[in-house]
Amino acid sequence: MRRVSIDDLKAMKERGEKIAMLTAYDFPTARLLDDAGVPIILVGDSLGMVVLGYSSTLPVTMADMLHHVSAVVRGTQRTHVVADMPFMSYQASPEDALRNAGRFLQEAGAQSVKLEGGVSVADTVRRLVEAGIPVMGHIGLTPQSVNQFGGYKIQGKTPAAAVKLLNDALALEQAGAYAIVVETVPAPLGKLVSQRISIPSIGIGAGPYCDGQVQVLHDMLGLHPEFVPKHAKQYAHLAEEIGRAVREYLTEVQQGHFPTERESFMMGPEGEAVLAELSGMV
Ligand code: KIV
Repeated sequence: MRRVSIDDLKAMKERGEKIAMLTAYDFPTARLLDDAGVPIILVGDSLGMVVLGYSSTLPVTMADMLHHVSAVVRGTQRTHVVADMPFMSYQASPEDALRNAGRFLQEAGAQSVKLEGGVSVADTVRRLVEAGIPVMGHIGLTPQSVNQFGGYKIQGKTPAAAVKLLNDALALEQAGAYAIVVETVPAPLGKLVSQRISIPSIGIGAGPYCDGQVQVLHDMLGLHPEFVPKHAKQYAHLAEEIGRAVREYLTEVQQGHFPTERESFMMGPEGEAVLAELSGMV
């Protein structure tokens, strides 16, 4: 079975076929997404917030990402796996970027990498692409710059910010990126960017006109119901379901209803006879 390639993803845009991307961080969920036919999985550095319990993506390390990307790759056969480059793994120099991006393909088995930024990272993107590493860009609300933005705020609202966003998208396309995540910008701007680039735009909070959409798995499955971003839709309520299952288990163990004979191992007649003898000896 062959994995979805960057050419397959570009062809989807050409055919007008929407690309549905989801995040995943571990083997079992990656397997479920692969089985369901998700063409592209992002092992996002959102890992830090939805799995590791940090309040931002900044503490996530290369070691964290390599560990989780490898698990997702092991859980998939057909899906294209994108490894998110964590904070400070590519900003300091193109050499750092090349070395770290290479590790995702060589050690973890990812098919491509994603990094944040537009014009400012275009040279780095070009360098990776020249080395044979497919790159997905990420513009708009780029969470690694949360301290620069002063919070997780909508981007591209002023004319100057909209022009900057468009220039960032064009610079990434020129540098050889195969797709661009566009995060938290007004829908009409998401539409304009999607029309102006020939590579797929993958929106998150960027309206319905992008060539694809990406959601954080924990948001769409309802695993963090205490905070649901405006751009997210809950397709399931798994936090409630897990809570219900765990409470039922607790009650059954406490009341002696679990395990029953069905979940227990028996000995057979000879073993029973030995046990009878042993109990007589005590
Ligand atoms: O880290 C992540 O999950 C992301 C998506 C929100 C695009 O970058």
